[in-house]
Amino acid sequence: MPSLLELVRSHTALDEADVALLQGLMADWQIIADLSFADLVLWLPDQGGEGFWAAAQMRPTTGPTAYVDDVVGSFVPVGRRPMLDQARDQARLVREGDPEWRDDVPVRVETIPVPHRGRVIGVIARNTNLLGIRTPSRLELSYLQTAADLTAMIASGDFPPPGQRSDHADSPRVGDGFVRVDGEGRVTYASPNALSVYRRLGWSGDLDGRVLADLTRDLVPPRRRPDEETLSAVLGGRAHRDTELGDDQVSLIVRSIPLRAGGEHIGALVLVRDVTDLRRRDRELVTKDTTIREIHHRVKNNLQTVAALLRLQARRIDSPEARLALEEAVRRVGSIAIVHETLSQEVLDEVGFDEIADRLGAMVTDVGVAGERLVVRREGSFGLLPNEAATALAMVLTELLQNAVEHGYPDDDDRSDAGCIVVRPERIAGRLRVVVDDDGVGLPEDFDPDTSLNLGLSIVSTLVESELGGVIELRGRPGGGTRAVVDVPIEHA
Ligand SMILES: Nc1ncnc2c1ncn2[C@@H]1O[C@H](COP(=O)(O)OP(=O)(O)OP(=O)(O)O)[C@@H](O)[C@H]1O
Ligand SMILES: [Mg+2]
Repeated sequence: MPSLLELVRSHTALDEADVALLQGLMADWQIIADLSFADLVLWLPDQGGEGFWAAAQMRPTTGPTAYVDDVVGSFVPVGRRPMLDQARDQARLVREGDPEWRDDVPVRVETIPVPHRGRVIGVIARNTNLLGIRTPSRLELSYLQTAADLTAMIASGDFPPPGQRSDHADSPRVGDGFVRVDGEGRVTYASPNALSVYRRLGWSGDLDGRVLADLTRDLVPPRRRPDEETLSAVLGGRAHRDTELGDDQVSLIVRSIPLRAGGEHIGALVLVRDVTDLRRRDRELVTKDTTIREIHHRVKNNLQTVAALLRLQARRIDSPEARLALEEAVRRVGSIAIVHETLSQEVLDEVGFDEIADRLGAMVTDVGVAGERLVVRREGSFGLLPNEAATALAMVLTELLQNAVEHGYPDDDDRSDAGCIVVRPERIAGRLRVVVDDDGVGLPEDFDPDTSLNLGLSIVSTLVESELGGVIELRGRPGGGTRAVVDVPIEHA
């Protein structure tokens, strides 16, 4: 289905300001459809004046639809639906006419011109499925009266009001709670749902005749309500705005649309929505995030303690071999700690891996003389990785870097220039490929990927193949040295 903008561009002569007005109208489209119990279709006159294009459509959530099919994108030539022509040519609401019959459903059509800067830029057709009409209750009468006020405002160019636009994501709908106030901000009608919302705030009486702003101010403690100006403007129905308020148990969003007739303020439609559950979930999410970060922080601390204990023990051991083994363990524990430290600072499920990789590179060249003879460089970016993948990949990278440092540049090697280890990550179509190159002495002649693995490469292949579901390959690097290639699938972009 073409979008409003696409239709405007390809078929009409409307400019940006016109489109902005139409979008402002669309923002409250659902409210008008619900109050009318009717389907709304926005028809835009085409460039050549030959007819109208259906640019947008909204079904009511309060009653049966008059359109089983979508009409957006269809074209009606001038003369086919005279009410559209009349609304445009005479710039007035057109109500007369017998019901139309569509697939055995009687539909009453009204057309509402949308004026902007002295000309009619569109026509809204309001289509009511008459089979859905019951003996009207007070609720229905109040809805319809408010819908009539709003459509009259559209036709006179008072709606949508200039500049303002509610973009609250949790904006209330008519069914959430509807209150109609008069010019003084007194309630003339409150829907049963609106009453329930106020019951939850602790009000047991009726709302009729109450000044909504005063009543709400009494019910809501100062720290849980907006500033006085906002409160009286929104609840008094004087500003086209929304606000959030509540008490310790209940959270509400209140949205107000002032109504005017003949240039005079005649009251407002105030929608209220109980968002207590939404807000509770928001809070729970926040605490869950904080808890997870706190856990990562503690795991990191614990790992650092373990590393410190091992280091202490390594110092007391005389056997060089045993000491080396312990120092390696210190390093492995340290690389996991680095990941947890990064995770403890992230809120998201993903972590930027570049920083981790750089810190691991610094860590492996940190010990002994390696640092003086070697540089570790990263070319390219890992991007964001899911947290679990980050931990495994950090271990893998540590082992590969450590091998390059340890085996690529043996102490008895008397090369003159500094060695260079390059880490080259690459994200392609749902995969991460990491190349670790060293320009050292290369793999031993008798190296066999199946049998020459000690603990380090065993860890690597287990993590890459089982944990990350990828592959690892070790071979000679063109130009000398060793190349390790890790290729793993990564979900996120
Ligand atoms: N970058 C490299 N350059 C040269 N040889 C390498 C390189 N990477 C691995 N090797 C060879 O592969 C062997 C196995 O590596 P692996 O990491 O499994 O064990 P290790 O490094 O000997 O011991 P550790 O278990 O402490 O890691 C090494 O002993 C080494 O001979
Ligand atoms: Mg190793």
